[in-house]
Amino acid sequence: MATERTFHVWRGDADGEHTEYTVEVNEGEVVLDILHRLQATQTPDLAVRWNCKAGKCGSCSMEINGRPRLSCMARMSTFEPDETITVTPLQTFPVIRDLVCDVSYNYQKAREIPSFTPDPETKPGDFRMQQADVERPQEFRKCIECFLCQNVCHVIRDHEENKENFSGPRYLMRVAELEMHPEDTADRRKVAQEDFGLGYCNITKCCTEVCPEHIKITDNSLIPLKEKAADRKYDPVVWLGSKIGLR
Ligand code: SF4
Ligand code: F3S
Ligand code: FES
Repeated sequence: MATERTFHVWRGDADGEHTEYTVEVNEGEVVLDILHRLQATQTPDLAVRWNCKAGKCGSCSMEINGRPRLSCMARMSTFEPDETITVTPLQTFPVIRDLVCDVSYNYQKAREIPSFTPDPETKPGDFRMQQADVERPQEFRKCIECFLCQNVCHVIRDHEENKENFSGPRYLMRVAELEMHPEDTADRRKVAQEDFGLGYCNITKCCTEVCPEHIKITDNSLIPLKEKAADRKYDPVVWLGSKIGLR
């Protein structure tokens, strides 16, 4: 049965404002369906990014009633019948227009991570991986690059000035994944601290809470990476090496 719902949708750039719409909602619909209905019936120039409508491309991220979510996975039936739905672009990235942000910060951070560095002495086919080493990073590979974790982390959400020195949970997770790979010869613990800002993370776990793939970002990647970085820092051999200029 169709009902009428009130939506407040962000319009314009950073100086924009919410505009109120009354719009039809049908059983089984998600927030992205309603935004498409608004485009089709009331405001054809509403800018919204989406692609798969199946929770797998990571394009339709936005803030719905203050919570970072995928709009294609936000079922209308989960809101109270009289609840106004307020839709805002991700707050951590510059708004281009309406619900579309410039997320290039994330691509820049991805490019800064040194790629997989296998031992050149290992011939193709010689390396054998333990099943445990295969399984551990598989969780991280479920990432759909929606940037909801990046958006919610207070280190950059509340402090624009930290963006230069902090890669955010998604890319620290990538560093952790490479550090865990038994065939990767690069020591990523020092760069994680010094170049990617691992020390800025104070384990608030907000990133983990919003991840639509339910990746345990904090427990399974950030904390193990912090432990490895701490081992390195307090390892007496490393300390001596750094003193005599070897590391
Ligand atoms: Fe999105 Fe989760 Fe990947 Fe972060 S780790 S970008 S929240 S899928
Ligand atoms: Fe930020 Fe996640 Fe750490 S939200 S502070 S990266 S645990
Ligand atoms: Fe692809 Fe929502 S449209 S995740």
